[in-house]
Amino acid sequence: MNPFFTIPLFFFIILSLTPSYGYDSLDPYGNITVTWDFLADNGDTVDVKVSIYNFQLFRHVEQPGWRLGWAWTGDEVIWAMLGAEATEQGNCTRFRGQTKPHCCQKKPTIIDLMPGTPYNLQSANCCKGGVLTSITQDVSKYGATFQMNYRKASLIDYDPTDPPPPQEDGNFTMPQNFTLGIPGYSCGKPLQVPPTKITKDGKRWTQVLDTWNVTCMYSQFLASPAPKCCVSLSAFYYSTIVSCPTCSCNCQGLPGAICVNDDKIPPLLSLPQGNDTAQPLVRCSRHMCPIRVHWHVKQSYKEYWRVKITITNLNFVKNYSQWNLVVLHPNLRSVNRVFSFNYKPLPIYGNLNDTGMFWGLEYYNEMLLTHGKNGNVQTEILLHKNKEEFSFEEGWAFPRKISFNGDECVMPSPDHYPSLPDNAAHITTTTTTTTTSFIVLFSVLMLSILL
Ligand SMILES: *[C@@H]1O[C@H](CO)[C@@H](O)[C@H](O)[C@H]1NC(C)=O
Ligand SMILES: *[C@@H]1O[C@H](CO)[C@@H](O)[C@H](O)[C@H]1NC(C)=O
Ligand SMILES: *[C@@H]1O[C@H](CO)[C@@H](O)[C@H](O)[C@H]1NC(C)=O
Ligand SMILES: *[C@@H]1O[C@H](CO)[C@@H](O)[C@H](O)[C@H]1NC(C)=O
Ligand SMILES: *[C@@H]1O[C@H](CO)[C@@H](O)[C@H](O)[C@H]1NC(C)=O
Ligand SMILES: *[C@@H]1O[C@H](CO)[C@@H](O)[C@H](O)[C@H]1NC(C)=O
Ligand SMILES: *[C@@H]1O[C@H](CO)[C@@H](O)[C@H](O)[C@H]1NC(C)=O
Ligand SMILES: *[C@@H]1O[C@H](CO)[C@@H](O)[C@H](O)[C@H]1NC(C)=O
Repeated sequence: MNPFFTIPLFFFIILSLTPSYGYDSLDPYGNITVTWDFLADNGDTVDVKVSIYNFQLFRHVEQPGWRLGWAWTGDEVIWAMLGAEATEQGNCTRFRGQTKPHCCQKKPTIIDLMPGTPYNLQSANCCKGGVLTSITQDVSKYGATFQMNYRKASLIDYDPTDPPPPQEDGNFTMPQNFTLGIPGYSCGKPLQVPPTKITKDGKRWTQVLDTWNVTCMYSQFLASPAPKCCVSLSAFYYSTIVSCPTCSCNCQGLPGAICVNDDKIPPLLSLPQGNDTAQPLVRCSRHMCPIRVHWHVKQSYKEYWRVKITITNLNFVKNYSQWNLVVLHPNLRSVNRVFSFNYKPLPIYGNLNDTGMFWGLEYYNEMLLTHGKNGNVQTEILLHKNKEEFSFEEGWAFPRKISFNGDECVMPSPDHYPSLPDNAAHITTTTTTTTTSFIVLFSVLMLSILL
């Protein structure tokens, strides 16, 4: 091969393989923000309100939910909490009184309460079992709030029979090192921001004493270096199905690659159920992905064309609740109808209205059942043929990008896309160059694993 061709190709492949930490072109500003509002200074204790907002366009927080953690900078202890609870009380032996603190740990982990928690333990906007929707999906469920009262660090060993110590003049110390307890997220340092304003009646606004924000960002690579879904394609004018690329998510036979054949289902009844943190246990396939998205160009009319999308769950140990699918295709700006799914175009900055989000209809298909339960969900979409650009040629009818639950899916190589029958000669010529680039890609992959 000509070296002048190989070297740029090499760098191109390296660049395209480099994981983009925390950056997702479909949701460049997406983040989860933790807001820490100091509500009242009681001298020896402080009241705070902590809110978690999912400002991501499509990524949601699913079961088992967020587990907010931080590190106190001093000797603080949490006396009481409403709307959430610490997972452990910790060592509170030094408090000999009748009432023990809620949590004495230096690094507490806070979890949400379940819906239906008794009212005396609730706070406003609480108790969602740790689950947050994206801001696109449901503006009433993308945030959660809890309140707590904690004892200031400097006063822990203060004897209550002594006269009260001088009041600190309003400066509060923020805890550090926040974590969300969800794979893939990392949080920045707390930043002091203008105090949150609260209104009771919509007329008069009061403000809290101090507000700090912590911004947490998602990185698909941090969550899992291996992809979690792949895309297969077909069209009414093309006789074969273009399946997911081999080894999209894993390779059968590699050490650690576990899969199960369909005829082995009965023993699976003894599998741990309902443990969403468990590793996927996938059906054996050449792509080894837990999720496959199939895009079928179904029909062409004079003014419109029809696409069928099927999402198949090949994971034996997970029901995907509140799943979502994001698709990038230029014709999405002319969506006419979407059947059986919810649909919303995504307002991405500088976007050409070519990206949209699909999710399930409540009580109908918002849950994508496990493979053992024949899990798949389907939609058909009707798109208006835009005269200037519409075409069945050059793979135009296929999506540019697809992500499932916020993780990008592996697409077949564009050279393999179904093409119109009169393009048959063209297919064979492109296949050779694809094979060559696949060999190069494969060697580079092997090299990067070995080095
Ligand atoms: C976090 O999201 C909010 C809301 O979309 C946005 O205003 C803010 O700039 C984002 N923060 C970062 C650091 O991207
Ligand atoms: C802090 O977080 C709140 C959400 O609670 C958001 O409305 C606000 O814009 C953020 N402030 C800054 C400066 O990022
Ligand atoms: C926060 O994490 C940093 C780095 O791991 C560590 O040096 C620091 O002591 C931690 N802060 C607290 C309060 O634990
Ligand atoms: C709990 O803390 C006390 C001091 O506050 C210490 O003496 C004791 O050993 C601790 N217990 C455990 C189990 O760590
Ligand atoms: C409070 O914070 C301000 C700004 O960071 C600082 O100038 C001031 O000295 C602090 N006051 C106390 C009592 O720590
Ligand atoms: C998935 O949902 C089905 C039907 O609700 C249930 O029978 C099954 O146990 C669930 N599986 C898991 C792994 O949660
Ligand atoms: C879920 O699975 C993980 C890893 O397999 C395990 O550590 C954890 O204890 C399990 N949780 C439950 C509730 O079974
Ligand atoms: C995208 O859609 C919005 C709202 O429908 C419209 O105002 C805007 O002009 C569209 N942009 C493009 C590039 O088509």
